[in-house]
Amino acid sequence: MRLFHACVLPPTGSRPVTLPGGAVEALVECGHQVLREAERAAREVEPGVEVSREVRVGGAAALLIEESANARMAVLGSHGLGGFEGMLVGSVSVGVSAHGHCPVVVARGRTLDEPPPDRGPVVVGVDGSRISEAAVGFAFDAASLRGVPLIAVHTWTDMSAGETWSVLPFDIDYDEVAEDERRLLAERLAGWREKYPDVELRQLVLRDRPVRGLLATAEDAQLLVVGSRGRGALKGVGLGSVSQALLHHSVCPVAVVRP
Ligand SMILES: Nc1ncnc2c1ncn2[C@@H]1O[C@H](COP(=O)(O)OP(=O)(O)O)[C@@H](O)[C@H]1O
Ligand SMILES: [Mg+2]
Repeated sequence: MRLFHACVLPPTGSRPVTLPGGAVEALVECGHQVLREAERAAREVEPGVEVSREVRVGGAAALLIEESANARMAVLGSHGLGGFEGMLVGSVSVGVSAHGHCPVVVARGRTLDEPPPDRGPVVVGVDGSRISEAAVGFAFDAASLRGVPLIAVHTWTDMSAGETWSVLPFDIDYDEVAEDERRLLAERLAGWREKYPDVELRQLVLRDRPVRGLLATAEDAQLLVVGSRGRGALKGVGLGSVSQALLHHSVCPVAVVRP
């Protein structure tokens, strides 16, 4: 495990930063101090863990995105020195989730003071896209490592659209739609089930909006896994709206996975 600290330079607006001699060295030493404390905290949980420390000077989001290119997983907190705006996740965590090169886990609990939950199932959101496929692989692995059940959730409707259509003389057999969606989900999971026979899998198909359905299902989970983007992918990078909303409102850690 690599502990990483970015030393952010003093804010000088658009003026260039000129630091007195020795300032950078002092800043870096502060960073190492922070990381030594982090190392102690890590060893309390897992005494045998191999730890390295890295301190760099620069913007946290940009440096972490760079670091993520050489990592299997990046783990961030949900908020930091930037203060507290509701329960919304901080800008570094959002930025790295959007642009990181590896899966990003944002560790969060129900409240700011509560540690993230460490029991309950892993939940994964499956929309049928290639990107959510990567999330499914990550989620099976996570459930297998923890020895807990995996709940795969697929939601297939936007209720507001459903209501709009219901005023028209339009005959949709929603039971048939639900059956199709269940088949779709089962197909998406088939290969992974074979690869992870040890994982107890529950498949949940909900006629609900994705954010609401996933938040409700993850209420007692220890990890919620989603793709960085989904079916709606507009061209370009960044986070889909479902992933973003979950980062901000989940009560358990959220893993954002990209292929
Ligand atoms: N209908 C859905 N059912 C289950 N999970 C979903 C659904 N829609 C999105 N997700 C989850 O959220 C991730 C991001 O999708 P989303 O935010 O909708 O991005 P986009 O805007 O590109 O569609 C998906 O990879 C998937 O894990
Ligand atoms: Mg979508």
